[in-house]
Amino acid sequence: MGLIHSYALWNNKGGVGKSTITFHLSMRYAELHPEQNVLVIDLCPQANSSMMLLGGGPIGEENIINFCKEATPHSVVGYLSTVITNGRGAELPDPYNFVVNVSDYNKNAPQNLHLLCGDGNLEPMAPAINEAASAKALTPSAQPWKWIQEIIKNFIEKITSSEKEWMVFIDTNPSFSIYTQIAISGAERLLTPINADDSSKTAASAMVALLHGTNPPHPIYGSWTYAKMAEEQGIEVPKIHLLIGNRLTQFKGSATAFKALSDATSTSLYKIYAEHPEYFVEATEDIDSKEKFIEYYSKPLRDFNSAGVVCAHLGRLLSSMKQGYYPVYSENAKVNAEKIKECKNAIDEIIVKL
Ligand SMILES: Nc1ncnc2c1ncn2[C@@H]1O[C@H](COP(=O)(O)OP(=O)(O)OP(=O)(O)O)[C@@H](O)[C@H]1O
Ligand SMILES: [Mg+2]
Repeated sequence: MGLIHSYALWNNKGGVGKSTITFHLSMRYAELHPEQNVLVIDLCPQANSSMMLLGGGPIGEENIINFCKEATPHSVVGYLSTVITNGRGAELPDPYNFVVNVSDYNKNAPQNLHLLCGDGNLEPMAPAINEAASAKALTPSAQPWKWIQEIIKNFIEKITSSEKEWMVFIDTNPSFSIYTQIAISGAERLLTPINADDSSKTAASAMVALLHGTNPPHPIYGSWTYAKMAEEQGIEVPKIHLLIGNRLTQFKGSATAFKALSDATSTSLYKIYAEHPEYFVEATEDIDSKEKFIEYYSKPLRDFNSAGVVCAHLGRLLSSMKQGYYPVYSENAKVNAEKIKECKNAIDEIIVKL
C-alpha cells in the first residue's frame, strides 16, 4: 500500500500542454482505477489544471477563488504557509485540512480523485519560500534548503501512508522558480510534454541541464545551481519516464501526425540518453538506437481538437462525452464522436505506460 508513483508534468517550455494533460490523465486514471486514490498537486500559480478539475471555465474559477480566499487556504499556499510557519522538525499538519475531494465540487469527477488546489498567491509567496530555503543553518544537522525542497515529497509521503494505494500527478509552471523546484524534488518521475516545433529541441536539453547541470559546469553559476545543490544535499532528482509528443492544432493532419517527436528533438534526447541513461527511468529492454529510444520513451498525443478542449472546459471525463453541441461561454461547440474516441484512446495509451 502507499505510493504507487508520483509524476511531475514538466517542461521548461510554456504552453506545451502540461495542465491539459494533467487534467485528462488524472480524471481518466481515477476512472479506470476506482480502488486507488489519485492526487493532483497543482504547483502552478496559474492553477489551470485545478480550474479544469473543479468544473472547468467560470465554475472552476469560482471554486478556486473560494478556496484561496480562506485565511488558511485549502490550497498549496495554505499548506506551504502552515509548514513553513511551523518550522523545520514540527509535526506535519493533517493533509486533509488542505486537500479537497474533487467530486464534492465537480459531479463529473470520479470520487477517488483528490486535489491540492493551485493558488495564484504562490507567486507573491515565492520570495518567502526562497527566504526560508536560504536561511542560515543554525545547527550541523539543519539543512534549510533541503527541508524546503522536500516539503512536497514529505506531504506526499504523509498522505499516501494510508491503507489505500495512491497515484500522484503534479502540475508545474514552466519556470524553474522555487515552487517548480519543490514540485520536481517532490516527484519520482517526469512526464514531459514536448511540441513539434524547433524550440522544443532546445527546451528539452535545457531541462536536462537544469536538473543535472551543464557539462562542463559554469565557472560561476555552476556552484549554486539546483543541480549542484541537489547533488550535494542528497535530493533525488526525478527520472524522465515518458516524453509526450503533444502536437497542437498547427501540426494536425500531416504525415507526421503519429510521430511523437521531431527528428531534431529525438536526436538531441537520444544523445543525452546514450551518455546518461540514469537520467531516465531504467528501461526493461536494451535501447541501443534512436528508433528504440523513441519507441520506448515517447508517446504521441494526437491533437485534442474540440473534443478534448471542450471536455477540459467543462471539467468532464472524455468517456462521458457523446456526440453533440456543448456550451463554451456564449458559444455552442460541436463535438464529434470519432474525435472523442481518438482523444480517449490517446490518453489510455499513456495511462498504460504509467
Ligand atoms: N493535444 C492538444 N490539442 C489541442 N489543443 C491542446 C492540446 N494540448 C493543449 N492544448 C491547448 O493548448 C493550450 C496550452 O495548453 P496548457 O495550458 O495545457 O499548456 P501548459 O503547458 O500547461 O501551459 P503553461 O506553461 O502556461 O502552464 C491550451 O489552450 C490547451 O487547450
Ligand atoms: Mg499549465
